Amino acid sequence: MEEVLTNPHSGFYINQDVFGAGGDFITSPEVSQMFGEVISLMIGVWTMCLWEQMGQPEEVNLIELGPGRGTLMADLLRGSSKFVNFKKTLHIHMVECSPTLQKLQYSALKCVDEAVNEDGSTKRTISMLSGSPVSWHSTLEQVPLGTPTIIIAHEFYDALPIHQFQKSSRGWCEKMVDVSEDSLNFRFVLSPMPTPATLLYLRKRCQWASAEEVAKLDHIEVCPKAMELTHQIAKRISSDGGGALIIDYGKNGIISDSLQAIQKHKFVNILDNPGSADLSAYVDFASIRHSAKEVSEHISVHGPITQSQFLGYLGINFRVEALLQNSTEEQAESLKTGYWQLVGDGEAPFWEGPNEQTPIGMGNRYLAMAIVNKKQGVPVPFE
Ligand SMILES: C[S@@+](CC[C@H](N)C(=O)[O-])C[C@H]1O[C@@H](n2cnc3c(N)ncnc32)[C@H](O)[C@@H]1O
Repeated sequence: MEEVLTNPHSGFYINQDVFGAGGDFITSPEVSQMFGEVISLMIGVWTMCLWEQMGQPEEVNLIELGPGRGTLMADLLRGSSKFVNFKKTLHIHMVECSPTLQKLQYSALKCVDEAVNEDGSTKRTISMLSGSPVSWHSTLEQVPLGTPTIIIAHEFYDALPIHQFQKSSRGWCEKMVDVSEDSLNFRFVLSPMPTPATLLYLRKRCQWASAEEVAKLDHIEVCPKAMELTHQIAKRISSDGGGALIIDYGKNGIISDSLQAIQKHKFVNILDNPGSADLSAYVDFASIRHSAKEVSEHISVHGPITQSQFLGYLGINFRVEALLQNSTEEQAESLKTGYWQLVGDGEAPFWEGPNEQTPIGMGNRYLAMAIVNKKQGVPVPFE
């Protein structure tokens, strides 16, 4: 999964823009220009509230993990441009493995390179949207420590590689990828005996679950990279103060069998043409909570709550209502579609009567979780 997505030569994310209607899939900041802006604005509201709770530090590392086209960060900076005291504290750090996407992010943030010294030998990059310095890194570890930090991980964890384990007559074994007998294709096989990963990761994940939860399952997915990343986030927040917001689709418990491949907006076979389709897996939020807590006593974990609750508590309805009042018919339609897709939880939206048929959107499938330094108290809207 890691090779398919991030191989430096032919990984899915590395050489192409995979987002939007012309790409392979759409994430919420990209759902439509107007609605994408609303989502980013809500995440901006969360970020500014946390900054207030942090005591308005004069310098903040605002880190986004896997920023895609840079749409969320650009909209967040535009949306917070009037909050001068907040804006002037920011140093933006984009953690992105794809050089192609780094370039798109540079343009989305309207970046310019300016000389730091007279001979121009040292340069820094500034976003003209906020006047903030911007840096790129391929991993979170590369972001300097020592400054209060706010981290946003929006649809990032779902791209981290998982292991799949399956119950068999030989006990729990690992599902692995093999070459087919004609050597032309890949195929899934089950390990003949428990692999080292089975012994290490399955045991680790199951220690955080009840015997009844595990007994019900024939398949279990474990994401050690998610555990590692969460350790890093929790340690950073513990030492530097601040918090992280994680939004993704997933579950507050063990994930059974969710690995999927999407190409041009359609599900395709996971093993066909590696590197041509997006691979993703549901995020195990319970494992994130336990991983964060096991490395530090100075952090607290909040949620997950549904995306629908997260956006609702932050006041998305007020924003959408204001936009609907001033929008053309076409814009209103696109806003309503976006709202249904991302906030919809089967209940009628606020602009309709209670009995109308409402499609169920992703409002319940997407979850939001926050990891914060305990000094910051409980972050909005997790109270
Ligand atoms: C599913 S996209 C999400 C994009 C964006 N956050 C959004 O919601 O629209 C995943 C992003 O993470 C980046 N990415 C995936 N795996 C990564 C890794 N191991 N290290 C750094 N970036 C990675 C991809 O290039 C892409 O920008």
